[in-house]
Amino acid sequence: MHLHKYEKIWLIFGGGALVLFLLILGFGAFYLGTHPQSHGVTIDPENVEANEAFERENLGLTQVDDDRYIVNIVASTFSYDLGDDGEGNAVSHIEIPKGSTVLFQAVTTDVIHGLNIAGTNVNMMVEPGYISSLEVELNQTGEFTLVCNEYCGVGHHMMFATVEVVD
Ligand code: CUA
Repeated sequence: MHLHKYEKIWLIFGGGALVLFLLILGFGAFYLGTHPQSHGVTIDPENVEANEAFERENLGLTQVDDDRYIVNIVASTFSYDLGDDGEGNAVSHIEIPKGSTVLFQAVTTDVIHGLNIAGTNVNMMVEPGYISSLEVELNQTGEFTLVCNEYCGVGHHMMFATVEVVD
């Protein structure tokens, strides 16, 4: 078989581009691995309480300044732990004044979960071994549903809470 000179050049170029593409893809996916947007902050998923933010009494909503709040969340199959209300009842609803700046910090103790507050910019992946965090300003009043948007097992659809932004 006779290949024309330009055919050879383009075959080498095409093959080379494919190899280069696969190398870049492989480096990104396997060597760098996956991590949340707020990557870099690690935590032991089997002992999240070792980090002060995720001690049980610090879960849920905490006011840190006039219009600044922190919400610490521990996700696990199949619920979000937002602490308790002081009378032993698990919190599943939080209220935040409109215009507040809120830092959401979340970890998981088992598999990958999602943390999405539908209708807001809060949308994170929560991966074992990492603290996912995102700071937002909540300017729209209403009740928003905090849902898990990463399939995590049979109880995936039961993972939710509500966030109400009040005037
Ligand atoms: Cu947790 Cu889906």
